[in-house]
Amino acid sequence: MIQKVRGTRDILDTTLFHFAITTIKKQIELYHFTHIELPILESVDLFKSSLGVETDVVSKEMFVVTSSSDQESESICLRPEGTAQTVRAFVENGIQTVPWKVFSIGQMFRYERPQKGRYRQFYQFNIECIGSAAIEQDVQIITMLDRLFAKKFRLENYTLHINFLGTQQERADFKSVLKIFLETLQGICDTCKIRKDTNILRVFDCKNPDCQTLYVNAPHLINHLGEQSQQEWNTLQERLQELSVSYIYNPRLVRGLDYYNKTVFEFTSPDLGAQSAFCGGGRYDTLVASLGGKQDQPSLGAAIGIDRVMLLLEMIQNNITMPHKPALYAIIPLDPAQNPLALQLADELIAHGLYTETFFEGAAKNMMKRANKSGATTCLIIGEQEQQDGTVVIKDMITGEQQIIKQNNAVSFLKGK
Ligand code: HAM
Repeated sequence: MIQKVRGTRDILDTTLFHFAITTIKKQIELYHFTHIELPILESVDLFKSSLGVETDVVSKEMFVVTSSSDQESESICLRPEGTAQTVRAFVENGIQTVPWKVFSIGQMFRYERPQKGRYRQFYQFNIECIGSAAIEQDVQIITMLDRLFAKKFRLENYTLHINFLGTQQERADFKSVLKIFLETLQGICDTCKIRKDTNILRVFDCKNPDCQTLYVNAPHLINHLGEQSQQEWNTLQERLQELSVSYIYNPRLVRGLDYYNKTVFEFTSPDLGAQSAFCGGGRYDTLVASLGGKQDQPSLGAAIGIDRVMLLLEMIQNNITMPHKPALYAIIPLDPAQNPLALQLADELIAHGLYTETFFEGAAKNMMKRANKSGATTCLIIGEQEQQDGTVVIKDMITGEQQIIKQNNAVSFLKGK
């Protein structure tokens, strides 16, 4: 048997998946973000010049796609994330009205080692606000997400981590300070030794507990901010406190992608195990210009990991109110001779917006059992007699009561029930 590709999964019951997407969408639309659809295929260069060639995503995790008949030289990949492509769409489509507040939903692809909550194909709900420098925008997006998780999903066991990376210049200056600190340390791991020279802030992401202990006394970036950044960092915290959004300041939160500056944040839950982040984001003030935008457009956004949100919702699904399923009607022809009539009746019910399952095969008893199992509230049974009389037997699956009505009246009868 040919099996699914490693790191992918089949979602056979999509109830939670739809609940998650619909709930997020409703919340985001309240803040006046609009839905856009973007391609899964993008050029490799887009991610090289935005995420950075030294990042794990670009250097190790890209799914590069080739076509067997491809004559073109352009290198194409399956998108690993949604920010760079949203910025590409902003620039390429010449969007003039800012802030451009948009969201997109879809599969992302990263060649990572699969484990619980980490897949090679996963879903992100991606939210971007392009063209706004106001720190209040950061506050509002973080609050929007926090309200979503706390009030709409009713998650209790999670933490919001926040850090401030300063401007590109402040960050660059801080890297030298950090380098001096790292040079004084003995015994950092081989990965950190490499990162020290290639992507120095990522040393803070090291999973090695010995390294983490060594970094306890590392300098904090927020102590190396210029006046304006310092003011923004203070304002961010004050506004969040005024809105009662709980957070922790996490000086080691640097995020794995190069485009970030200033505000960065992540929502994590210990219930998820090692892959604890279920939403992450931040500012990327220079990305639009670096991807060819004529004007600099300070921007920010976040992505919610749908697969991880689903894991969290699975744990509390008894406490959440799912939208109730509409009544299902089952049409049961007792003999194949009544199949044409069953088709007509189903067509009529469906045309009037009634959810209908039609059974075409098997013994009557068996069909009734299957109707029950599929959750049908009412069965519409048609045998030879009913066919001749133009009637149908209506059986209430909850009370077991049966009555015979005219086929012509079936829809109005069911709707009035
Ligand atoms: P990210 O932190 O790489 O950020 O991903 C965001 C979220 O996607 C993570 O917190 C996690 O929940 C989920 N995720 C990432 N990788 C996997 C995986 N292999 N399997 C399952 N879930 C995963 C970004 O992608 C940025 N583009 C977010 C952003 C938007 N920043 C600004 N705007």
